[in-house]
Amino acid sequence: MKKKNNPAPLSVWRPINIDRFIIGVPHYPEHVDESYWERDAERMAAAGFNAVRMGEFAWHIWEPYQGHFDFDLFDRSIAVLARHGIKTILCTPTATPPRWLTTAHPEMLRVDENGRQASHGSRQHADTTSPVLRDHSRRITRAMAEHYRDNPDVIGWQTDNELNTTTSLSFSESCAAEFRKWCHLRYKTIDALNAAWGGDFWATHYDNFDQVVLPLPMAPGHVSPGHRQDYHRFLADATAAFQHDQVEILRAANPDWFVFHNLGQLEDIDFRGQFGEDLDFIGFDIYPMLYDEMRRTGGHAYTQALQLDICRAYSGNFIVPEQASGFGSQPTFSTMTPEPGEMRRMAMSSVARGADSLMFFRWRPAHFGAEIYWMGIIDHDDVPRRRYEEAKQFAGDIAAIEKHLIGSSVRMDVGIAGADFDNQEAYRTYPMGLPSPLEDGLLLHQNLYRRNVATGFIHPSDDLSRLKALYVPHFLMWDDAWTENVRRFVENGGTLIVSAMTGTRTRDNHIHRELAPANGLADLLGVRVEEFGRIAAPESDGLFEPPGADAGFRASGVKRLPACSAGRRYLLRHGNTTFPASHLYEKLIVEDDVEALMSWGNRFLDGEPAVTMRRIGKGKAIYAGTYLTDELTERLADLLRDDGVLSLLPDAPETVEVTERIGANGERLLFILNTTDEPANVTLAAPATDLLTGTSHSGTLELGAYGVSVLQP
Ligand code: GAL
Repeated sequence: MKKKNNPAPLSVWRPINIDRFIIGVPHYPEHVDESYWERDAERMAAAGFNAVRMGEFAWHIWEPYQGHFDFDLFDRSIAVLARHGIKTILCTPTATPPRWLTTAHPEMLRVDENGRQASHGSRQHADTTSPVLRDHSRRITRAMAEHYRDNPDVIGWQTDNELNTTTSLSFSESCAAEFRKWCHLRYKTIDALNAAWGGDFWATHYDNFDQVVLPLPMAPGHVSPGHRQDYHRFLADATAAFQHDQVEILRAANPDWFVFHNLGQLEDIDFRGQFGEDLDFIGFDIYPMLYDEMRRTGGHAYTQALQLDICRAYSGNFIVPEQASGFGSQPTFSTMTPEPGEMRRMAMSSVARGADSLMFFRWRPAHFGAEIYWMGIIDHDDVPRRRYEEAKQFAGDIAAIEKHLIGSSVRMDVGIAGADFDNQEAYRTYPMGLPSPLEDGLLLHQNLYRRNVATGFIHPSDDLSRLKALYVPHFLMWDDAWTENVRRFVENGGTLIVSAMTGTRTRDNHIHRELAPANGLADLLGVRVEEFGRIAAPESDGLFEPPGADAGFRASGVKRLPACSAGRRYLLRHGNTTFPASHLYEKLIVEDDVEALMSWGNRFLDGEPAVTMRRIGKGKAIYAGTYLTDELTERLADLLRDDGVLSLLPDAPETVEVTERIGANGERLLFILNTTDEPANVTLAAPATDLLTGTSHSGTLELGAYGVSVLQP
C-alpha cells in the first residue's frame, strides 16, 4: 500500500493516490485485554483485511502526563497486526485532549452561545481556535510522528477525528480574541470592516478592532449577514490551520505517508480551500441509517447515495474510514440494523459512488463507555457471526474488482452545483424560510436517483466537460470566472439550468447594485430579474415559515415546504397544463433571442416567462425564475431526458441503484445494487460479465435480496 504520487488538484473526477484498496476496520486494542490481540489479527487476516486505523481517542495513553510519552501499547499492537500482514493507519489523538491538559488550561474549553463552558469528559470539548490547544496538538503530533517515522508498518495518518462534528462553534474569550486578530488581518482598517459588514445599519458600527464581538444569535436582534459569514469563514480557517499544523509535521517526518481526515458533519470546513488541499484525499464516515433518521431525506439507501455524491464534489474519490456495519446507538438514540446482505450492499454503494478504500466501523463493539451498543464486525462475546462473514465476502468482492477500480472515476451526466463553502454560509446568514441550495438541489438529485441517471454534485469551477447538464440551485454568490466556465460548457453542447436568486449578492453579502443575476450570468442567460415575491405555504401569509431553516448539510431535507395549495396561489404554465409554483416567483425581463419554456399561469404575472431558454453554440442556457417543486423537477428531468440525458439501465426498478465507474482507459464498470430485501430483475442492454462471480449475463439479470453485481460490458 503505497502512495503513488502527490495529490492532483481538487476535482470531482480525481481518483485517490494510493496503489491498493485499503480494507479493514477502526480498531481499539486499548479496549481489550492483550490476550485478544493475536486472535484478532488472525481473524482480520482470514477475512482478507489489509489495514486497521488506531489511536484517535488515546491521547491519555500516548501521553499520560505532560511531556511523558508512552508508545508501548500501540507499538506492540502494531507489531502483532503486522505479523499477520495488517498495516496500521494512525490518528492524531487531538479530539480527546486529556484531563491533565484541560485542568491546566480550562481556557481551551469551548463555550456555547449561552456562555456555558464545556466540561471535560467526552470528546471535542476543546476549541480548535485556541492557540493553547494548537501548541499541544503540535507537541503530541511531533512526538508521535518522530516515534513512527521509520516504522514500515505505519502507512498513513488520519488527522484528529471528525473535526467539528459534535459542534464547530465556540463563543469563548479566547475564540473572540482570535476572531479579532482574523478580522484585523483580513480588513486592515476598521473602516474596511465597517463597510463590509454594513456598519451604518443599526448599531453595528465599530470604532476599533478591540470592540469586535462574536455574532451571538438574537442578541437581541439579528446580526449582519457579513458579520455572521465572517465568523464561519474564521471558524473554517481556524479548523484548516489546526489541521495544517499536524499535516506539516507528519509530512516532514515521512513524506511517504498519506494523510487524510475523516469527515462526519460538514460544518465549518472549507474542503476546497486549504483544508482539502493539505490532504492526500478526504475520508467520509458513512452511517446511512443514522443520517436518514436525522435528516429524513427519503430512506437510508437514498440518504447514503446523497451523502456520497455531495462528498465526492469536494475532491473526487475518497476513502470511507468508518462504514456502518450493524446496530448503532449512543445513550439517546439507536439506529435501524442492516439486515443480512445489507452491510455488504451498503459498502458496495460506497464503492460505486467513489470510495477507493473502506473500513467497517469497528472491529468489535466497546464493552464500556457511551457507545456500548454500537456494534462492530465481531460481537461482544468475541464470536464472529454474520457481519464477519459479510465483511469477508466484501473483501473477496474487492479483490475481484480492485485492479479495475484503481484510477477510475464515477460517471456523472448531470451535475448539481455544490461544494461551495461561501454559498452554503451565505444562505444561512439570511435563510428567510426559503430552501437552501442543497434542499432545492436534492429534489433534482432524488428524481434522477430514482431514474438511475448518473448524477452528482460538482463545484462550478471544476471540469464540466464530462457533464451533459448542470443545475445551479440558487447560488447567491457567483464569480465571473464561473460564468466563463459554464459558458464554455454550454457552447460545447451542455445544458445549463440556473435557478432563482442566483448571483444576487457580493462576497460581502451585499445586494448587487444591478439587476440579478450578476457577474456575467444575465448576459449569458439573456435574463434579468425585475421583481421577486414570496409564494406562501398553504394557510400562511408568507411572513414566517416553520423554524429550522436548513443548517446546510446537517439539516438537509428536514424541512421541505409544501407547494402552495391554498390562499394566494401562483401557477406555472407548461404547454397546455398549469401546476402550482412554490416558495418564490421572479418577474423576468428577457432578451429577444430567449424563449419561454414555461410561463406564469395566473394573477398579475399571467403569460410572463418563468423558465427561459437561450441557445448558445451547441447547448442551451436555461433560467428558472422560481424554486423547484416535485412537479417542476419532474418536468425539467423530462426535458433533460428528451435531450438525451438517459438512465444507465432504463428498465431497472427505482429500488435498484445503478452507477458507473470509468477507468482512465475508458473501461466501464456498471454497479447494480438491490437496496431491498425483495429479489429484483433488471434487463441488460448488452451481454456483460459479472466480475464478482465470473458469470456472463445477457437479457435478464436476477438480483437476490440486497444482491450486488459489478458488470463489465
Ligand atoms: C463516528 C465517530 C466514531 C464513532 C461513530 C459511531 O462519527 O467518528 O468515533 O463515534 O461515529 O457513533
